[in-house]
Amino acid sequence: MKEPIGVFDSGIGGTSILKELVKLLPNENIIYLADSANAPYGQKNPEQIVALCKKNVSFLLKKGCKLIVVACNTATTNAISELRSSYSVPFVGIEPAIKPAALGTKTKAIGILATKGTLSSALFAKASDSYGQNTEIIEVIGKGLVEYIEAGDFDNPNLEILLKKYIQPMIHNHVDYLVLGCSHYPFLVPLLTKILPQNVKIIDSGAAVARQTRVVLKKKCIANTSNKVGEIMFYTNSKANTLAEIVKNHFKNYKIEAIKTYTS
Ligand code: DGL
Repeated sequence: MKEPIGVFDSGIGGTSILKELVKLLPNENIIYLADSANAPYGQKNPEQIVALCKKNVSFLLKKGCKLIVVACNTATTNAISELRSSYSVPFVGIEPAIKPAALGTKTKAIGILATKGTLSSALFAKASDSYGQNTEIIEVIGKGLVEYIEAGDFDNPNLEILLKKYIQPMIHNHVDYLVLGCSHYPFLVPLLTKILPQNVKIIDSGAAVARQTRVVLKKKCIANTSNKVGEIMFYTNSKANTLAEIVKNHFKNYKIEAIKTYTS
């Protein structure tokens, strides 16, 4: 099936997942929607997050998407069950990679950096309950980080100060894994590597999401069997500059379009 896979996030963060999708499924056509005008989602309540997700899904369905990847932990943990019961299209979501961290830790302490929306969700509570029995999980809300990333303001010294403040309790508790529970945070890896002790492994869920997408495409018999390289279409409802910079550096065969508004 040559119809596109739809991918959405509250902004540019989901491009960290998109990179993994393109690597694993190079022949798929993909539409990426960055709802940057409404970022951050992380401080919003579940009802607001569900409403924004539905608006994004409607937009992608109007473009003919055959499967939707919710490339945002906050959106997945707060809205995916509602999305699955409201639409017949298959959804793949992203959740913090607690399992591999809890299974791999030697110090029996892991850190999770995520948004308030993700850390306070029922889905996250369930996952941390099942893997956190013998492991101390240090949860930290990364308030304010998404704003720097959306602005492409990676060299701002205040970003490093903020990040150090968030990581400090994890270092204090001797974590040996840091789970990035927000699809925006892989953009902070260069800074995090500077701040963290060398033994701390940083993990995110991007590759796992791509693998799960491949499984669902196969199971539903909707994979694109063409051997042509797929096209990627980006839509953003905010300034296209930062997205354009990222896209230029990481993707080929793409188009980018700034859209003003879209409704469900
Ligand atoms: N990128 C999103 C996530 O994975 C949320 C960022 C935000 O809008 O707060 O949680």
